[in-house]
Amino acid sequence: MATITVDPRVSGNTAEFVSGRHLLYIDGQFVQAASGKTFPVYNPATGEVIAQVPEADEEDVHRAVLAARRAFDDGAWVRMAPAARTKLMSRLADLIEEHNDELAEIESLDNGKPFAIARVNDVPKTAAMFRYMAGWATKLTGTTLPLSAGPDFHAYTMREPIGVVAQIIPWNLPLLMAAWKLAPALACGCTVVLKPAEQTPLSALRLAQLIDEAGFPPGVVNILTGFGETAGAALAKHELVDKIAFTGSTEVGKLIVKAAAGNLKKVTLELGGKSPAIVFPDALMDKAIPGTASAIFANQGQNCSAGSRLYVHVKVFDQVVEGVGKIADKIKLAPGLDPACQMGPLVSDAQQRRVVGYIESGIQEGAKVTAGGPVSGIERGYFVRPTVLTHTNPGMKVVREEIFGPVVCAVPFSDDDIDRIVQRANDTIFGLAASVWTQNLSVAHKVARGIRAGTVWVNCHNVFDPALPFGGYKQSGWGREMGEEVLHHYTEVKAVTIAL
Ligand code: NAI
Ligand code: MG
Repeated sequence: MATITVDPRVSGNTAEFVSGRHLLYIDGQFVQAASGKTFPVYNPATGEVIAQVPEADEEDVHRAVLAARRAFDDGAWVRMAPAARTKLMSRLADLIEEHNDELAEIESLDNGKPFAIARVNDVPKTAAMFRYMAGWATKLTGTTLPLSAGPDFHAYTMREPIGVVAQIIPWNLPLLMAAWKLAPALACGCTVVLKPAEQTPLSALRLAQLIDEAGFPPGVVNILTGFGETAGAALAKHELVDKIAFTGSTEVGKLIVKAAAGNLKKVTLELGGKSPAIVFPDALMDKAIPGTASAIFANQGQNCSAGSRLYVHVKVFDQVVEGVGKIADKIKLAPGLDPACQMGPLVSDAQQRRVVGYIESGIQEGAKVTAGGPVSGIERGYFVRPTVLTHTNPGMKVVREEIFGPVVCAVPFSDDDIDRIVQRANDTIFGLAASVWTQNLSVAHKVARGIRAGTVWVNCHNVFDPALPFGGYKQSGWGREMGEEVLHHYTEVKAVTIAL
């Protein structure tokens, strides 16, 4: 085993957990991978190994799926009083809150993000998601239906849990994505096998301990750390899984769909984006400039909904680009646990190479760098400077593809025809989100209506709430997460008809 170094700034509890022995969570037990294999976890601020976690493979997936299947089929979880499910989920939310700073330290160490942000954003939002969804457990109702056939029948619908759910999540918001997936599934009475991303497995393993402590019955939640091509693929094709929920790249989303076809499991996908932020000349600049900067730079730019195409009216283009560039230049890059940190490293060396590769390709194709650039100037860690590109054209890779890093393409428009602006914003294979910055209500509503995306923000960006459905049009995905919408994806509807 490689030597393990944990950042000395973390608390004793975190150091103990991170450097301790990690195990899979299957059927209410903490166990090794069947193969006994482990893989290393890196601190992206240093490139050092901070932990070894079990490498689950097909056999572990099979064991976890069987456990989830038994926990579903034996009926105890499904028949549990909905209020008892609410109580368990609320207890888990309490435990998450009690361990807020420890979870934030784990997240910062593993993903690279600023600890100061994880403790006020990622972790509290994780607890809030469990609380919000806990409330839905008691509100999953059907309807009574007057039939065209006449009054000789009494008919009604009921919502039942869809069954065993496999959930595969990414590394950008590891703990929060686990909550987005687990909370609605549990509220609906499903059982789950969750696989965190191989880059960031630690917070899901700590969550497994809290789930166990909260008292969920064995097999209701199973958590496996492992790679996508092995453990993930085994989950996607497993015949005893009823539904798969995936967040990640559009490329892998398509593989999931193919794998799911074997037993026609239900599929929801939350995939990539290339979201426009559109600034009109009447926008309040003291809101629009910091707002569009944070739209792209938040979470090191590793956000599916990042405002990565900045469309600005020519009248204010220079002002906005200069303003966003000044903010970019001032952002303090540092390890996430450094109190001065405003932006951490990207999650991995692969992601750093990928994002730097995009900046270089933009430059090669003729774009101009007005802030940041391909060289971070920082010796250690996977840092990329927040970068602003101008002089792009609609055919460039940097304009068309998801970069998933702190890189924005600023594009001027001189048009006053809303339809044509909307058409340019919609010129993408993605349809996840958009923001519009204006004081004019009519413009805001027209743009909101014209945008082909699952989310439109007006005078704000990246506002998420458990009550708001989130998901993509076009190649940004299938289905919605959160809100009442998500419950449809974790339940089946049964129509019951009684001849009177
Ligand atoms: P990815 O799509 O490969 O990984 C996401 C999850 O899918 C991970 O848990 C991974 O283990 C799993 N996975 C990978 N291959 C699989 C397979 N064949 N079957 C089942 N599961 C599989 O994303 P990656 O490679 O980490 O990042 C590449 C790019 O994807 C990013 O640069 C970004 O553009 C995009 N991405 C988008 C995300 C979003 O939130 N929409 C999140 C993560 C990545
Ligand atoms: Mg991948």
